[in-house]
Amino acid sequence: MKQMIIHGGKPLQGDVWIGGAKNSTVALIPASILSRTKVTLEGVPRIADVDNLMDLLSEMDVVCEFNGTTLCIDPENIKMSPLPSGKIKSLRASYYFMGALLGRFGKAVVGFPGGDDIGPRPIDQHVKGFEALGACVKNENDQIILTAPKDGLHGATIHLKMPSVGATMNIIMASVTAHGQTIIDNAAKEPEIIDLATFLNNMGAQIRGAGTDSIRIEGVAQLKAQTPHTIIPDRIEAGTYIALAGCIGNGVRIHNIIEEHLDSYLAKVEEMGVVLDADEDSVYVYPAGDLRMIQIKTDSYPGFATDLQQPVTPLLLSAKAGEGVIIDQVYPKRTGHIEQLCKMGADIKAEDGIILVHPSHQLHGATVSAGEIRAGACLMIAGLMADGTTVINNADNILRGYDRVETKMQQLGADVTIQDVIEK
Ligand code: EPU
Repeated sequence: MKQMIIHGGKPLQGDVWIGGAKNSTVALIPASILSRTKVTLEGVPRIADVDNLMDLLSEMDVVCEFNGTTLCIDPENIKMSPLPSGKIKSLRASYYFMGALLGRFGKAVVGFPGGDDIGPRPIDQHVKGFEALGACVKNENDQIILTAPKDGLHGATIHLKMPSVGATMNIIMASVTAHGQTIIDNAAKEPEIIDLATFLNNMGAQIRGAGTDSIRIEGVAQLKAQTPHTIIPDRIEAGTYIALAGCIGNGVRIHNIIEEHLDSYLAKVEEMGVVLDADEDSVYVYPAGDLRMIQIKTDSYPGFATDLQQPVTPLLLSAKAGEGVIIDQVYPKRTGHIEQLCKMGADIKAEDGIILVHPSHQLHGATVSAGEIRAGACLMIAGLMADGTTVINNADNILRGYDRVETKMQQLGADVTIQDVIEK
């Protein structure tokens, strides 16, 4: 287990560069096996999820080389093999191998995905999509077995019950090489969907309408990567640093952002009184000042991202007066951070899916646990605000998705270190 040790109370300042989007990267890596030629991804974040996906690729004899932020994936000698539990359980996004393998080989055997503990995360919409394309889907011994008909998958019109990011991406991957046209209605509109479509279109796919709620895919025979693909910046990482700068910043510039991807988040943060100055691809957060309480309701894109409700919470704890309200409509049970924040002296509680936040200016260091990635980010910011030392156990969850977080924090002047702990 890894522990993050934070000696809090130091104002942070300087520059930080945002990495490539985790939630794009974890889809693009499995999607790479749809290519018959070598794939080059640029701007790949240094996160544990990437290491785990590379391990899964090596189980299929796909050769990966990761230098700096460039990841080369060579699927030319790929051999179709079952991906049972083990590594699969280490990340949610391993479910993208279902769509990718089905698209590439017409067959997939993938262990039931693991991932963050943020409440129920069904995959019924993924399965509905695969079945609509003609696949037979069986769930046996904690494994999903998918088989295309003898003459291959065929296009279909699929109406998603909710705009699921995972289901939209998985259906895109399975259908790019299906016969005929597929239409996904009520598709997710997240920027990561557009990134996946751009990546696949540059390999010869024909995907139109990504970023709207109706995506049309015209099946093609084969995909071949020809040019490197640069992954979009991580809007959730950017939002996390903006929250941190708003709480304890003494002037922080956050580089490599796409402002439009953060629109609803920036509107809320500004409503609280955080002063920002955004230009082409960076945002400057002025030194922290007096903040107002606000109400936040998460929603699918372009709404306020569920992945930012926890990182923004310390900002609400810093408000001068009043009661803040957070309602996570996407994952109402994503409240594991609350008990941990209370250990640090925060005045926060969850009642019937509503999180109530009161000003808490005297946070103190404590030993807490990061139950999942965004809870970890929230506790990290709280630890930076608190007096004394905070120890975050299970910091591995933070490293799953935050690119070189220790170095970035230290560059801003934070006293943050990560250490391995041998569990007895
Ligand atoms: N849902 C279903 N059935 C399905 C699929 C989804 O009921 O078949 C429900 C979910 O339970 C949830 C909602 O639909 O209430 C939306 O889920 P979605 O499928 O969009 O989420 P996901 O694809 O599993 C991705 C991100 C999450 C992020 C959500 C929402 C990845 C690997 N994960 O999950 O990221 O919270 O979209 O934006 O891309 C994170 O980065 O911290 C994280 C958890």
